Amino acid sequence: MTTTTAPSPVLEATGVTMRFGGLTAVHSVDLTVNSGEIVGLIGPNGAGKTTFFNCLTGLYVPTEGKVAYKGKILPPKPHLVTSAGIARTFQNIRLFANMTVLENVLVGRHTRTKEGLWSALLRGPGFRKAEATSRERAMELLEFIGLDHKADHLSRNLPYGEQRKLEIARAMASEPGLLLLDEPTAGMNPQETRATEELVFAIRDRGIAVLVIEHDMRFIFNLSDRVACLVQGEKLVEGTSEVVQGDERVIAAYLGTPFEGAPGQEELAEVEAAEAAGAAGAAATAEPEPEDAVPAVTDAENATDPAEATATEEAGTTTEAEEAPEAAATEEAAEAEETEEAAEAEGTSDAPEAADAPEDSEAPEAPAASDATSSTSKEGNAQ
Ligand SMILES: Nc1ncnc2c1ncn2[C@@H]1O[C@H](COP(=O)(O)OP(=O)(O)OP(=O)(O)O)[C@@H](O)[C@H]1O
Ligand SMILES: [Mg+2]
Repeated sequence: MTTTTAPSPVLEATGVTMRFGGLTAVHSVDLTVNSGEIVGLIGPNGAGKTTFFNCLTGLYVPTEGKVAYKGKILPPKPHLVTSAGIARTFQNIRLFANMTVLENVLVGRHTRTKEGLWSALLRGPGFRKAEATSRERAMELLEFIGLDHKADHLSRNLPYGEQRKLEIARAMASEPGLLLLDEPTAGMNPQETRATEELVFAIRDRGIAVLVIEHDMRFIFNLSDRVACLVQGEKLVEGTSEVVQGDERVIAAYLGTPFEGAPGQEELAEVEAAEAAGAAGAAATAEPEPEDAVPAVTDAENATDPAEATATEEAGTTTEAEEAPEAAATEEAAEAEETEEAAEAEGTSDAPEAADAPEDSEAPEAPAASDATSSTSKEGNAQ
């Protein structure tokens, strides 16, 4: 199935800790990815997943710990990490908006081209040959991700899902041995998500190990040979999909489903019972004649308790809504649609995607260097 033979460690992160002032975003995390493996990294918002990626790729210099690629300790410099063989995509898409699809992939090849400035300026035979090889390779990658027919399109004109795929092609252009994907299906519809799953399998089958962050649990558990769950910067559990998805601590911490014995269960039941009684009382006292109008208003107001609480939660914290677990978000939206009047539900169900699209489609005006984006500290959340 895979092109590799005996599995050997590709990535070994040991005791990786990242502190920002008083906040420990990542705390002593060990993680190994072997050749031929797809490893999933999950955890609630703010768990430290992206920060961990930033530590692996040299965007952040870890406060403690070390990162080795194929047995060699990596210097925490993005371009050195890329040329060593680790490539990544970003949680917030970072394409060159005004470049074509093909040019974006060519940018990703810069670490693999040997031709220097003079060669480029003089456009000698060496340069032309290297350029032709690069274009050929880039086109082959575009074919691989199914975007070869759009090679000449400006990347900013691509639909969101295709921009995410293009990021993957650009990362692959650096010929990595390990690919890090930060939420590759965020904002995708179910069909695109399924196609991305197939794409990741195909990448692994090309001999590239994959470490992938995702909030879509079905995606991650289908895909991964192993899954690690980060909570508040610490690795809570690591194991096969079966083990991790059945772990009560993961369910409680990540999915927010209370496990047996969790505090507050009785109180929650009482509140629900009181709400149900209140709703029944309101329905009984409501005027019967205007069939839909009156109950509709009453319902809508009552519905604000359970459903709108979710809506305001999402809408209030734009960033969280934007990066909220998709499964949860769509579930909530669906629920809202069922329980509320359409007008109200519309706003809720559209919120996460609407929040995603404009922000993420804002491509960086960054300089011509993909992962080697120079500004380390400036990244802020360097996602
Ligand atoms: N550059 C920074 N300076 C200060 N704090 C930071 C920085 N980058 C991340 N953090 C903090 O570190 C914590 C972990 O953030 P991180 O983005 O890694 O989470 P995450 O697991 O990727 O979350 P999400 O699923 O929402 O993407 C958060 O509390 C975040 O605010
Ligand atoms: Mg993140």
